Amino acid sequence: MSVPASAPARADSVVILAAGLGKRMRSARPKVLHPLCGRSMLEWVLDQALALEPQRIVLVVGHGADEVKKSLANHGAASRLQFVTQEPQLGTGHALQCCLSALGQDPGRTVVLYGDMPLLRPESVRALVATQAATADGGLALLTAVFAEPRGFGRIVRDPKTQSVVRIVEEKDCTSAERELDEVNLGVYCFDGRGLVQALPRLSNDNAQKEYYLTDVLALFVAEGRRVASVELEDPNEGLGVNTLAQLAEARTELQWRILEQHLENGVYIEDPASTYVDHGVAIGAGTRILPCTVIRSGVKIGAGCEVGPFTQLRPGTVLEDGAEVGNFTECKNSTIGKHTKAKHLAYIGDATLGANVNIGAGTIFANYDGKAKHKSVVEDGAFIGSGTVIVAPNTIGTRATTGAGAVVTKNSAVGASQVWVGVPAKRLSLRDGDRIPRS
Ligand code: UD1
Ligand code: CA
Repeated sequence: MSVPASAPARADSVVILAAGLGKRMRSARPKVLHPLCGRSMLEWVLDQALALEPQRIVLVVGHGADEVKKSLANHGAASRLQFVTQEPQLGTGHALQCCLSALGQDPGRTVVLYGDMPLLRPESVRALVATQAATADGGLALLTAVFAEPRGFGRIVRDPKTQSVVRIVEEKDCTSAERELDEVNLGVYCFDGRGLVQALPRLSNDNAQKEYYLTDVLALFVAEGRRVASVELEDPNEGLGVNTLAQLAEARTELQWRILEQHLENGVYIEDPASTYVDHGVAIGAGTRILPCTVIRSGVKIGAGCEVGPFTQLRPGTVLEDGAEVGNFTECKNSTIGKHTKAKHLAYIGDATLGANVNIGAGTIFANYDGKAKHKSVVEDGAFIGSGTVIVAPNTIGTRATTGAGAVVTKNSAVGASQVWVGVPAKRLSLRDGDRIPRS
């Protein structure tokens, strides 16, 4: 599938259907708010919409409407979002009828997307829109796929002579011959907006499910002589609808692979993609090595030439500057790890700012939480934190200072530059002339 070069791939309006209950998820959470690689399923679908540069995006919500609205309050496109509540839910056509006042009389080129179809690539939606513009202006284009097992989907009925789509039949309304058709409707369309808003009030619910079918708009368009085009997905897996937790897991695996593939293309070495979890919205510099069994959460920033893992978790707010190394069984949260600083074994680094060339010994803990509040610590350039040190926050460890193995540096110790602190609670070791700090 390719985008016709001459046609624009822009839509004026996008409607996202997200009112469904999602009963089969067996979860109190609204279906479209389930997480996929660090963001909600709905945010992936919003990317599909935003790729079309629309003036407005109408979200049809029902179950959990308030939660869905709240989840997008700080989204970059929040000002372009309009919410329409559909209650009760009487079918996809009814969902669009509920949008009539939001859309107005001429919503322009209008695309319908599903909130539970996160794998659809923005490029595929752009190809659909460009096809409508190039070959069915004034009519509609719909997205289809050929499935070996088309069960549950509406079937595409084509005119045997012209091969153009004339009807979509819901499975429950199919004749036995129609049930054999393997080309299915994915439910994603690009409509001439004026034609759509004129057709919607004419839908009836005279069918097996007593629902208002959006698919019947197609038959009305055909009857009016409007053109109908179709675009078949090259990769039918993009059409996966998430209805169960198993399908959610399947979608996550695919999106995870797409994210990792992008980093691999950017020159990030990932030894074992199958055991590497990198959320959406992580920046990683070229030449960085990610070793197995590593979890990197949204918003983390990793410089060039770093090493992460094996068995490392980088939680939100972590920044690794160039050449930093965070290794085995080390967790970082809301912390900056300076250039060429190393924390290679069994450490917890929380709410800390580490300068350059710091060495964090095995088993070091930043005790950032006093049971009520989180506190910050700073470790300045070149400091050497001995194995098993506990740094109780808030605290500061000065430039090139040293802590001895097992030291517990109680809060506000303000360890000065080049000082050596040892013991529990840690005290400053006064060095006589000739004493050597055990490091270069
Ligand atoms: C619809 C299509 C069918 C297509 C299938 C693809 C119709 C009549 N049929 O099936 O041809 O093969 O999608 O998945 O359109 N929704 C609402 N409000 C409603 C009903 C649904 O917002 O009243 C939303 C759901 O949350 C979901 C989407 O629309 O995101 C599809 O609903 P679903 O019930 O799965 O699709 P069908 O109507 O069975
Ligand atoms: Ca249904």
